[in-house]
Amino acid sequence: MEQFIFHNPVKLIFGKGVLSKLPNGLESYGNKILVVYGGGSIKRNGLYDEVMSILKKLNKEIYELGGVEPNPRVSTARKGAEICKKEQIDFILAVGGGSVIDCTKLIACAAKYDGDPWDFVVKSAKPTDAIPFGTVLTMAATGSEMNAGSVITNEETEEKYGWGSPFNFPKFSILDPTYTLSLPKDQTIYGIVDMMSHIFEQYFHSTTNTPLQDELCEGALRAIMKDGRKLVNDLQNYELRETILLGGTWGLNGFLGMGNAGGDWATHDIEHAVSAVYDIPHAGGLAILFPNWMRYNVNVNPKRFARLAVNVFGVNGEGRTVEEIAMEGIDKLREYWTSLGAPVKLADYGIDDSKISLMAEKATVNGKVGKFAPLSKKDVEAILTASL
Ligand code: NZQ
Ligand code: ZN
Repeated sequence: MEQFIFHNPVKLIFGKGVLSKLPNGLESYGNKILVVYGGGSIKRNGLYDEVMSILKKLNKEIYELGGVEPNPRVSTARKGAEICKKEQIDFILAVGGGSVIDCTKLIACAAKYDGDPWDFVVKSAKPTDAIPFGTVLTMAATGSEMNAGSVITNEETEEKYGWGSPFNFPKFSILDPTYTLSLPKDQTIYGIVDMMSHIFEQYFHSTTNTPLQDELCEGALRAIMKDGRKLVNDLQNYELRETILLGGTWGLNGFLGMGNAGGDWATHDIEHAVSAVYDIPHAGGLAILFPNWMRYNVNVNPKRFARLAVNVFGVNGEGRTVEEIAMEGIDKLREYWTSLGAPVKLADYGIDDSKISLMAEKATVNGKVGKFAPLSKKDVEAILTASL
């Protein structure tokens, strides 16, 4: 294993009815609250009214920023930071999916900074302070509710990058699977693809002696795949929503990556470049790219791919070469995602070959991407071309 320091201070509040714990979470903060949310799903499923009624009972002074976009934009974070500065906001409550939470993270840090929020995303400045924030999660996918990452799009320059800071950990995250029952089928599928992808990103590493981490990754993938398959045909099933909601948090709260130097993450970098240019759903892009990343890199460590094939995808390895087993596992992943209804090709989003070079350029703007398999611009172009 590699040396590591693990610190995750997020208080996770999980289960049916846990919104009632919101007042305890807010106890130690001031009176002025900014509630951040997305395009209206929380108004349609009743969560907005419930949150507002709790805040009103607590006599909080409430400010609102709605309309955070999927693939949240820096311009929206700028608006949020301005409200925080002008109104002297004490606490921010993010109510929504990963996009709302990621935008909130940038608002929280930018509210205590004189420069432009984008500076943090491109790492030309580091946050030195932030407004505390909590989350009420409505979508199982990113793990943002329990990690310090945030992914922001600059719509003017067509750039989308991840950034992080110790200030980006929520003070608490409230996860009631009930509020994910309203997620439509496509978003449910995207969530499953995203959390599985996070586990793959951490599973593919070059560190030796990680048996506990490997088993945890494989077990999490099996559980997510089993209940995920049932869930897409039974969207109102609370128990399946429960498994998948916790799966999203576990996929990227840091536990699975302990001691393995973080994993690979090239597929995420490539996907961020695709959605920077085409504004497609994050996990739609991952569903297309990941099997092609795997095929391209299978020879980096065929045994690892074969292990995944046998332990997660149930491939029978008897009498076959490691390479054959590895390739069958990748085919089974493709089949699984396709069977859920995830996209298969970039063409499914109307994307052709005209901007392959531009996307590869954006993905590799800081040099090679990926730790397990470092990829040059040419490699990225090849993966994107295979994904057309
Ligand atoms: O905007 P509203 O109206 O709320 O609708 C959203 C949005 O249209 C809807 N939705 C969310 N909860 C719902 C719901 N609809 C009905 N019922 C509910 N309960 O779903 C749509 C997608 O929401 P979004 O928040 O964009 O999805 P997700 O949680 O997948 O977040 C995606 C963003 O997170 C980034 C992605 O790049 C993308 O920008 N990521 C963040 C990461 C992190 N912070 O750690 C890691 C990830 O790899 C990822 O890159
Ligand atoms: Zn992701």
